[in-house]
Amino acid sequence: MPMPADDKLVEAALTARKNAVAPYSQFLVGAALETAEGEIFTGCNVENATYGLTICAERVAVFKALSEGRRRFTRIAVAADTETLTPPCGACRQILWEFCGDIPVILANLSGNREWFQMKDLFPRAFDSSFLKEK
Ligand code: THU
Repeated sequence: MPMPADDKLVEAALTARKNAVAPYSQFLVGAALETAEGEIFTGCNVENATYGLTICAERVAVFKALSEGRRRFTRIAVAADTETLTPPCGACRQILWEFCGDIPVILANLSGNREWFQMKDLFPRAFDSSFLKEK
């Protein structure tokens, strides 16, 4: 399947990455989430001296969009400066699955490398609200 990417979404993730607040890890990440309406909500990672309160770029993008009333999402791009393209962490996969479903996740780095995966392949056998209805 062809990569469901256009440069605009990846560019938005790369630009958002520059806003990362990552004084502890120096690991800058950007994300760009596309809505069904064609808008883009971006996010960057924001770290905290407690470390544990750090929030990833992907979740910032999802929560920004949700808090602005958006509910339907079509793609997300994630950008980091790694040769092996950086995928969303486990916590972000759980959040992406719940709020975005089986969308394409486009990974990008600063050298122009790109790859993409469907969420269902990144997050198989997910726990979600369907299990809550079985009880
Ligand atoms: N991080 C993200 O923002 N997204 C990812 O996909 C991987 C990890 C952040 C969290 C933390 O600020 C830094 O990268 C190192 O883990």
